[in-house]
Amino acid sequence: MEDKFSELARKLRPSPIRELLKLINEPDIISFAGGIPDPTLFPIDLMWEVTQQILENEGDKALQYGPSDGDIGLREEISKWLKDKEGVDIPASRILPTTASQQGLDLIGKVFINPGDYVIVGLPTYLGALAAFSAYGVQFIGIPLDDEGMQVELIPEKLKKLRRAQKRVKFVYVVPDFQNPAGVTMSLQRRKRLIEIAEKYDFLIVEDTPYRELRYSGEHVPPFIALGPKERVISLYSFSKILFPGLRVGFVIAAPNVIRKLILAKQAADLCSPVLTQFVVREILKRRDAFKRHIMRLVVRYRDKRDAMLSALMKYFHDIPGVRWTKPEGGLFLWLTFPEGLDTEKMFPKALENKVAYIIGTAFHFDGSGKNTARLNFSYPTMKQIDEGIRRLSKVVEAELRELERKKRIKLTV
Ligand SMILES: Cc1ncc(COP(=O)(O)O)c(C=O)c1O
Repeated sequence: MEDKFSELARKLRPSPIRELLKLINEPDIISFAGGIPDPTLFPIDLMWEVTQQILENEGDKALQYGPSDGDIGLREEISKWLKDKEGVDIPASRILPTTASQQGLDLIGKVFINPGDYVIVGLPTYLGALAAFSAYGVQFIGIPLDDEGMQVELIPEKLKKLRRAQKRVKFVYVVPDFQNPAGVTMSLQRRKRLIEIAEKYDFLIVEDTPYRELRYSGEHVPPFIALGPKERVISLYSFSKILFPGLRVGFVIAAPNVIRKLILAKQAADLCSPVLTQFVVREILKRRDAFKRHIMRLVVRYRDKRDAMLSALMKYFHDIPGVRWTKPEGGLFLWLTFPEGLDTEKMFPKALENKVAYIIGTAFHFDGSGKNTARLNFSYPTMKQIDEGIRRLSKVVEAELRELERKKRIKLTV
């Protein structure tokens, strides 16, 4: 059978995260590993109300095949919502509903990447994007992040080298708002500078921003779609983190010629996104006040959880030298960096023995770097679990650092 598989299928590997996540299903493990919303905050009543209305009034359409370019009603509602929240005029013709943003990433890979093409990504970056683009034979260029997001000033140097070798960069992939995994937000100055660099070196900017509505502190920063020329920017949004991930509704914004190609690619992938869930999102967007109230509720609850995690880190880690963490202004994650030498993958089984789980940082680095880093999620666990889980983690880290110190001493004396 092996010889029948395509080159692509042979390259597909199980994600290290999925393998690790299988281990953490025991109920007494406190998991900071998932990237998932708190299901107790799902607006189930709203879902009932709109679904019932849809099934009563337009069940025949909602359960039928739909157009590949998505429900026009949804696209128009999204256009109004974008105007309302970002002040941008994006006509429905530039909006393509997708089977959530993961499909958007895959379609972008399909439409833009030839084997051997280069794509710039953050070190670290969202691993689902790495997986989606890798399937098309991409080569990555990694750019480290700091507290202001991707360090875009490092891009030109890398590009000059590529140009000398006559290689092409197709696009840069950024998660500018409350990045998954690092939790950092790209500053306005960096966004503007990235647009200048993209113009000069002629590559596209793909912004993926599923956490954008979840800001708990700090200043609003405009999205790339509001800052850059429309031919250069492609934006991906999702309703997974602000409504229900199970609906699988997101959308791509791009120039009309790009949208046309994406529609053709989508036709081959799934004919159309589920019509019922598109109608659900359309109706929720129409109930704008209820939708805004729901997002406010998420912001309040997740802000408390973020603050609980930051306080717990201060409480339990302040005596452990060399441990740093990001202080996200929104989103679902923060990022831990441990002293050099501590390997979070090797430490993982010990964390599980102590009934706490995280995601190893290397999963978000295409080049295998980031061994001493980890991602923590604060949206899913309860406030009590956050405190107790960070306490457990601090004990595991302390023991690991003591062990490293002991090994170092033995090496020195040998
Ligand atoms: C940055 C980013 N992009 C895309 C996705 C995919 O989300 P969905 O397909 O549910 O919209 C995620 C999910 O965690 C994410 O963090």
